[in-house]
Amino acid sequence: MPPAGPPTGDAPAARLFELITAHSVSAALHAVAQLRLADAFDGETSYTDLAEKTGSVPDVLLRLLRFLVAQGVVAESAPGRFALTDMGAYLRTDRVESLFAVALLHAGPHHQRRWAALADKVRPATGEQSAPQPAPAASPGAGGGNPFNMPPEIAAVFQQAMTFFTRSTAQAIVDGYDFAGVRAVFDVGGGHGTLLATLVEALPDISGVVFDLPEVAERAAQQFAAQGVGERLTAVGGDFFQHVPAGGDLYLLKNVLHDWDDEQATQILARCRQAMTPGHRLLIAESVMPDTLSGSLASRLAAMGDLNMLLNGGRERTLPEYSKLLSEAGFRQTRLVPIVPAWIGVESQLIEAMAI
Ligand SMILES: C[S@@+](CC[C@H](N)C(=O)[O-])C[C@H]1O[C@@H](n2cnc3c(N)ncnc32)[C@H](O)[C@@H]1O
Repeated sequence: MPPAGPPTGDAPAARLFELITAHSVSAALHAVAQLRLADAFDGETSYTDLAEKTGSVPDVLLRLLRFLVAQGVVAESAPGRFALTDMGAYLRTDRVESLFAVALLHAGPHHQRRWAALADKVRPATGEQSAPQPAPAASPGAGGGNPFNMPPEIAAVFQQAMTFFTRSTAQAIVDGYDFAGVRAVFDVGGGHGTLLATLVEALPDISGVVFDLPEVAERAAQQFAAQGVGERLTAVGGDFFQHVPAGGDLYLLKNVLHDWDDEQATQILARCRQAMTPGHRLLIAESVMPDTLSGSLASRLAAMGDLNMLLNGGRERTLPEYSKLLSEAGFRQTRLVPIVPAWIGVESQLIEAMAI
């Protein structure tokens, strides 16, 4: 049987040891974000300057920097002098595509604690598995600004992290999808409106509505006003389990369905369908699970995303699984549109469906 996972020439036990202790890498990257260390670099910079700028203990920072060299985040150009690598530069806060908030969120203690519960999810305590599951709340996520009951400071970082992923995907959607004939795009669970703002910037004939929980929609409205796109974009607050506004000729669901179980995802799709006119289109942008996993980057990220969603009560899905949800909610899947988000550089697929 061929080895699973990324190709490596390292000894299997050594490779496994690295996987076992991989949390150390995560923790170091979280420390980099907390210290805003990447922002302190000015090209090649001495560790003493970096320590002064970040208020760190020089000798201890030096040890962290050397750890980062070994991970390829930083390069040591001369003894005691360091520079960010192309990869490390993504941790700066001043670049348009920044993974800073992603590091704060995904490498932080909140996510680490969630992942610590994995074994309990796989094998629930005796009795839990067969016990009836509580019915979904009438408005899951309502009131918190996120579906996972994150504390407010984590929810704010979550939205920033989503903005990173969404900017990249938004550009790929503009490049890969034919919007000919589309006038009004409604982005359901559209967060702060990053996707729509990118669309209207590139497509002058399009107007849009972002629909999200009231407190999130309020923030989207502020963003639209600040970006000068308030005349073409509107933010509407509400609960997509109750109602989705009518009037769009294209509806978007990006990274929404994977937050929920099948019953809840079907309910969201059904609310979209009720708002739509037959013949109008829906686009789903999700990380589609390959039917068979390999050690490729696409497989690794999809599988990680799936477990991440498992911990929140959601799941990543394969294409047949999406087709089933769509047909149950009154849609016919029409085609798959390949897109390549720049940050990952790997092709993914938009699922297009038509209201029937
Ligand atoms: C994972 S985020 C995706 C945001 C955006 N589509 C993107 O890709 O950047 C899920 C979004 O669903 C919104 N949401 C959660 N529960 C909701 C509900 N009951 N009604 C409307 N929106 C909801 C969240 O506030 C959040 O903005």
